[in-house]
Amino acid sequence: MSFDLVFFGGTGDLTWRKLMPALFQAFRHGKLPPGGRILAVARDERSDDEYRAFIRERFVEVESAKRPTDEEFSRFAELLHYRRMDLSKPEDYAGLKSWLDERGADTVVLSLAPAPYLFPVICEQLGAAGLNGPQVRVVLEKPLGHDLASAHEINSAVAKAFSEPQTYRIDHYLGKETVQNLMVLRFANALFEPLWNRTHIDHVQISVAETVGVGGRWKYYNESGALRDMIQNHLLQLVCLTAMEPPSTLDADMIRDEKLKVLRALQPIYAADVAQATVRGQYRAGTVDGKSVPGYLEESDADPVSNTETFVAIKVGIDNWRWAGVPFYVRTGKRLPSRSSEIVVQFKTPPHSPYPASAGTIHPNKLVMRLQPDEGIRLVMLNKGRGPGELKLHQTALDLSFAETFGGRSPDAYERLLLDVIRGRPALFMRLDELEAAWRWTDGILHGWADTALAVKPYAAGSWGPTAAISLIERDGRTWHEDDI
Ligand code: BG6
Repeated sequence: MSFDLVFFGGTGDLTWRKLMPALFQAFRHGKLPPGGRILAVARDERSDDEYRAFIRERFVEVESAKRPTDEEFSRFAELLHYRRMDLSKPEDYAGLKSWLDERGADTVVLSLAPAPYLFPVICEQLGAAGLNGPQVRVVLEKPLGHDLASAHEINSAVAKAFSEPQTYRIDHYLGKETVQNLMVLRFANALFEPLWNRTHIDHVQISVAETVGVGGRWKYYNESGALRDMIQNHLLQLVCLTAMEPPSTLDADMIRDEKLKVLRALQPIYAADVAQATVRGQYRAGTVDGKSVPGYLEESDADPVSNTETFVAIKVGIDNWRWAGVPFYVRTGKRLPSRSSEIVVQFKTPPHSPYPASAGTIHPNKLVMRLQPDEGIRLVMLNKGRGPGELKLHQTALDLSFAETFGGRSPDAYERLLLDVIRGRPALFMRLDELEAAWRWTDGILHGWADTALAVKPYAAGSWGPTAAISLIERDGRTWHEDDI
């Protein structure tokens, strides 16, 4: 099967930081189907060789084990091509079409990551140039809109040129190994499913913590904020995979139908609820990983005043039989103490304890799915401490580390996703109705924040966010999971 992979924005950050390294890994490990060409398009004039040299230099930024040797790069570079294109000029699209038609690959993948307002223009031009035939698939990178209305506008414009089955909307969290393992854990094991409901689960926590700040992309981020940047897409997808009903097959639409039902069952959060159900934070100067770091308003390019959140915590319910009354607490933030993403399912405390108080507290069981780093699963339970003395209950964990168990490498999310587009497998991409349902729920909060002028609360870089985020969960007699057991 021959394929051509075209990256619009071929000199941009996403291409050299994520896409090229992911493709190189696929190439190095023999996963990239043969017969492929990779074409980067961008505004400036360069030859193929100049572009190859540009990419070669950028590989210095990639972690050393993933950098190509000279010999590997020269083989990989044979796949790389470059074309200058002005995205406003129809003749440049016609030129691209002739380049592609000359070979007539079985599959053409067009990967778009422009400023969101450019999606409609580019798609219209691609359609007008006939670059939307049945062999073409279009990949759309986030942000796909700023709210439901703008997402709808972008998607309608895309839909004029490309059918839904041709459209692959990326949420790179869906390409992460551990995120996929979540489905395996739930649906290939008989153990958890009988307990996976309101009768046995007390609550669920989903945290995605980052140590990085917004450094070089302040202007972009300031228009977005953590709710749009992380919750609307990545964290909601994690909520869906945790909460969805078992699909009857792994057919892309079966999975997406089940996720959609969760999105539609999320309890809306409006102006009357935002103060209770959400917390917005913004980092101030502090220390992360032993280094002093500036506050959000002191980053380069920053405006002196901003009410954009770099941290958000939300308590959300799911209105269906399985989850009624089980809160999902989600939080994400920049400049937190450690980079860690995890889903914690906390079971209910046993209804009765035959043990004396001196044996210690009966802590509830927890299933902790660590998405990154140290990918793995821990099942926290109580055991008897060893010895003949007085009986003591100890909280201990069954710990499954994927690195230790499976060895080998854990492919980057983009590697899997790009290979899936090339092979025409849409299961890990967002369908239009999912995207819109996620925006509809997010819009409720955005409007709620705007209507109530909910201000961001400061938190020191290197802390776990504003104290209000701790109160959000402690008010309910619960605490955020700490990785101490
Ligand atoms: C991106 C966000 O979608 O995800 C970034 O725009 C964020 O702000 C990134 O840093 C996090 O991804 P990962 O894979 O590093 O957890």
